[in-house]
Amino acid sequence: METNRLQAEDQEVLDHLLEKVKEQTELFLGYPVSKDFDYQNLYDFFKYPMNNLGDPFVASTYGVGSRELEKEVVQFFAELFRAPQNNWWGYVTNGGSEGNLYGLYLARELHPKAMVYYSEATHYSVQKNLHLLNMGNIVIRTQENGEIDYDDLEYTIRMNRHMPVIIMANIGTTMTEARDDVARIKAILKKLAIQHYYIHADAALSGTYSALIEPRPAFDFEDGADSIAISGHKFFGSPMPCGVVVAKKSNRDRIARSVDYIGSVDTTITGSRNGHSPLFLWHTIKRLGIAGLKSRAMQSLATAAYTEMKLKEIGIAAWRNQDAITVNFPTPSATICKKWQLAAEQGHSHIICMPNVRPSHIDLLIADLEAEMVLRN
Ligand SMILES: Cc1ncc(COP(=O)(O)O)c(C=O)c1O
Repeated sequence: METNRLQAEDQEVLDHLLEKVKEQTELFLGYPVSKDFDYQNLYDFFKYPMNNLGDPFVASTYGVGSRELEKEVVQFFAELFRAPQNNWWGYVTNGGSEGNLYGLYLARELHPKAMVYYSEATHYSVQKNLHLLNMGNIVIRTQENGEIDYDDLEYTIRMNRHMPVIIMANIGTTMTEARDDVARIKAILKKLAIQHYYIHADAALSGTYSALIEPRPAFDFEDGADSIAISGHKFFGSPMPCGVVVAKKSNRDRIARSVDYIGSVDTTITGSRNGHSPLFLWHTIKRLGIAGLKSRAMQSLATAAYTEMKLKEIGIAAWRNQDAITVNFPTPSATICKKWQLAAEQGHSHIICMPNVRPSHIDLLIADLEAEMVLRN
């Protein structure tokens, strides 16, 4: 009879890995993933090959999946991001990068001859996506805080006024969590009388809570976005990477292709799609609701304010963008970066105050930083 047991040495490999994962998860301040989730009541679903093959809104012959819940997840984000009523669509992706790829793909199908504009602070995966899609593109300068330089954007589009425009706007850049103002970008397009354009918002980290803070940053459909992508493992938290992309249904319809083999419509990037990840997102939406998500965001913002204050107190030049949970400061020693898993880019690092980060974690980091200062002096 087939058994579930591994050889002792193979089990040891797993045990060792689990220990390492536990240890590494404990000291984790530099990357935007939440780790405070508890999805134990979903464990039974791991016994099944959940696959949301095809379009979530079109039933498939393959019935072992979670498309009903996936639709609810998409609806939640469509409403949160003020998508046009009766003209929204989307799906649960494998992460923000796939959502961005999807946005660019739709944009290219609508405007095959367009030029894509995005700022220097854009996530590295976007360049790769543009390469995959073979789309012409121009990088726009950023301001000090990581936000797109609107003057450079205007100037550059003006130089290429004969071409349709595709904008990849950042709603929370990877390094400094700067938000590009979608309404302001739209105003530039209007000023230049650009008739054919598409704006995709990369809201991987900050999308969900940007919709819950006051004043609400200009980033969603009502502000001018045509599609928005978020990462699910970031602010929500999930054991595996996932995300959501929301687009206008009328645009999605232009690329839909019916496939007999799956009995559904091929509208997504991949064929097989993770049927487990919609469960995590759905679970969080049901458990927290808007009020719970809002207080989750407020807690992170409060921790970020605490972190900024504590760093400044010990003489470190910390700063953050308005309503950001990312606190920026000069890169500390390699030892501290390694211990706390802090990313570094051109001498800058950050602490991302995800919902699981508590002031007590910050106090420990501050103690490490102070100890190094004492040694140095
Ligand atoms: C601004 C931004 N966009 C996109 C991504 C990619 O998201 P994912 O890792 O979910 O593919 C990230 C990841 O950190 C990001 O910070």
